[in-house]
Amino acid sequence: MKTLLNVQNIQKTFGKGANSVTALHDVTFSIEEGEFVGIMGPSGAGKSTLLNLLATIDTPTAGSIQIENVEIQTLKENALADFRREHLGFIFQDYNLLDSLTVQENILLPLAIAKVDRATIQQRVLEIAQLFHIEDLLHKYPVQLSGGQKQRTAAARALITKPAMILADEPTGALDSKSATDLLQSLEALNENQKATIMMVTHDAYAASFCNRILFIQDGIVSTEILKGQQTRKQFFQRILEEVATFGGGARDII
Ligand SMILES: Nc1ncnc2c1ncn2[C@@H]1O[C@H](COP(=O)(O)OP(=O)(O)OP(=O)(O)O)[C@@H](O)[C@H]1O
Ligand SMILES: [Mg+2]
Repeated sequence: MKTLLNVQNIQKTFGKGANSVTALHDVTFSIEEGEFVGIMGPSGAGKSTLLNLLATIDTPTAGSIQIENVEIQTLKENALADFRREHLGFIFQDYNLLDSLTVQENILLPLAIAKVDRATIQQRVLEIAQLFHIEDLLHKYPVQLSGGQKQRTAAARALITKPAMILADEPTGALDSKSATDLLQSLEALNENQKATIMMVTHDAYAASFCNRILFIQDGIVSTEILKGQQTRKQFFQRILEEVATFGGGARDII
């Protein structure tokens, strides 16, 4: 197995002096190619901060982040934008679709920007639309879609470039349980069949149970991690609930 992401002793402090907030104290972990990793922890624990650092949207105060052996802090603005576009895919809670474009146009946008030829684009759009069960929606506009359909469109757009790593922050947060299950099953299929590497922040133990490994973040450090191993999804779900319960007062924020 190849290490795709290597995070060493990262720290993130916002602001300066008396008003500063240290969101991440000292975080170290790595992710192998083909893993589906969940990030859980109480509200304010630093999960989104961590994801933003990995997304290269923000920079750590100290420590090192390597993605595919590239030390991302060494990249300058343009190189960083290229790296982000070529290697990473993002799925956020609020979809970020462009309302004036159809589903198909939204999905193919990253390939059009990368100047990929038409035939390849057409083929990739169909493949990815089938995976997310949106092939009948390609000519609709975002306003005509349900929340679940919008999120599957956003996921298809994130994945059409075959990114080395997919970063998702609460992708099921705004979805009903049926739509959430559809999205999670598509991500699971992508992980199993195409060996896509996925990192997903979630408050929801059910969503987390689709992952192979969960990192728990508390007070700015990785407090513990659990592996699915040979457990069924139901058994893993129970195990995650047990772990969440140990957060005590914070448990309310998680489920
Ligand atoms: N841009 C910022 N400026 C100042 N403080 C920030 C900033 N972003 C995050 N923080 C602080 O850092 C800490 C971690 O925030 P973060 O958003 O990473 O938490 P989280 O684990 O994603 O929480 P949630 O589950 O509620 O989304 C919080 O105390 C937050 O107030
Ligand atoms: Mg967050």
